[in-house]
Amino acid sequence: MPASPEEVDILSDLRARCHAEHGVFWMREGELGVFDPEAAQQVNAANFKDLTLPDRLVDLLLRRRSKQVSWKQVRTAWIAQLRRLTDAEGIGGLAARMDALLAERLDRPLDLVWAAQQVCTQALVPVVVAGLSPADRRRLLRDQDYKLRRLLTLEAKRETFREAARSILIQVGGGLVVRRELRGRAKGRRPRQLDLTDPIVDLLPDLGMDRAVDAVTAVLTAIAGPPGSAAACLVYELTRRPDWMARLTSELAAIPPEQLHAAPTRVAPVTHRFVKEVLRMWTPPLLMTRGVRTDIDLERASLKTGQRYFLSAYLIHHDPRHWQDPDVFDPDRWLSGAENGPCSGASYVPFGWSPRACIGASLGTIQLILLCHLLCTRYRVQVDDPEAVRMAMVAVPLPRHLQGMIARMA
Ligand code: HEM
Repeated sequence: MPASPEEVDILSDLRARCHAEHGVFWMREGELGVFDPEAAQQVNAANFKDLTLPDRLVDLLLRRRSKQVSWKQVRTAWIAQLRRLTDAEGIGGLAARMDALLAERLDRPLDLVWAAQQVCTQALVPVVVAGLSPADRRRLLRDQDYKLRRLLTLEAKRETFREAARSILIQVGGGLVVRRELRGRAKGRRPRQLDLTDPIVDLLPDLGMDRAVDAVTAVLTAIAGPPGSAAACLVYELTRRPDWMARLTSELAAIPPEQLHAAPTRVAPVTHRFVKEVLRMWTPPLLMTRGVRTDIDLERASLKTGQRYFLSAYLIHHDPRHWQDPDVFDPDRWLSGAENGPCSGASYVPFGWSPRACIGASLGTIQLILLCHLLCTRYRVQVDDPEAVRMAMVAVPLPRHLQGMIARMA
């Protein structure tokens, strides 16, 4: 598979430096690459210890401090709500939404990357904000589509004034939907919902409206990126590996989707291995950058407040010091005792690092298993020109020329 120019230029250079400089090196002045598993854990733990939300805009303007709210408190509320949500409705709702979104795309030429992205992201929107009117839902989806398009734009292109104005309007529209929903629920005009907006309604008195909208928007942004990218890479691997497609199909055909939730490792171990390997091989995003909030001493470098550091689960997952044959896609490396398995827990981090690690890790994994279920047992994906498909490395791993069609199985 030929590498894309993007990969050759940026990733090869980073990988070579990672190897030569043991995973921690200055990328530019004031910007440290922290691509060693243990150092990445350390730097993130130190940087985000006691993280609080930024002050409210109104307080900044009045030059006073806002009430301090810890990010941990917000995350804890979301994680508890996700647990309540999956306990109450299992994954039936998510599975039904993904099924319906796939069904809307049948029997016509498709960009399969875009289709996978949209199916996963749109199916997650009600997990974040449920019970929207059709018009508000459309506004939010337009904003989600806009976020996705920006992520998938390969070459940074200068926006025209008209495009920039339109994008601002779309984002403002999405923000207004969230604001209306928060206010409506707080005033009792709209019903409370089992979604991730609801715990923020309880925190409104402490957060204030602007910070509350920002918190919900942060989750909407989080679901507009990695889940869909991982789904597109899953479709890429599934369609080019008939042997694995057959293994997954024979495992999943016997399992009703609602059973996948409880214990995927036990119920669908082959599919779970496949999903884990997709997340190792093609981890989005390729690089994450963080501002340094407090001076931090690492073993091989010291960071000063105001500098930046970069993290990359992708680089850790492709480092031969931590993985045997890291560029080989092999779901069986996840069999217990496999020689090419992870050398430590810290070397597999598709959901990032504590205390900012993904709050939706379990749900995200289940969603990818569900996608396998749908694509192996209910739908058939056909790629127009398999030879033309290749992986590009941009902000996320992005299959290119993955055009084709989705049909219902006979
Ligand atoms: C396969 C699917 C997913 C992948 C690969 C993924 C990956 C990630 C990654 C890499 C981060 C950054 C972690 C860090 O900064 O160290 C993140 C953060 C986050 N993710 Fe996910 N994610 C997925 C699904 C989801 C889902 C389903 C939700 C919510 C329903 C979600 C909500 C969030 C939130 C809110 C954050 C920000 C956490 C914080 O800043 O404290 N993600 N995710």
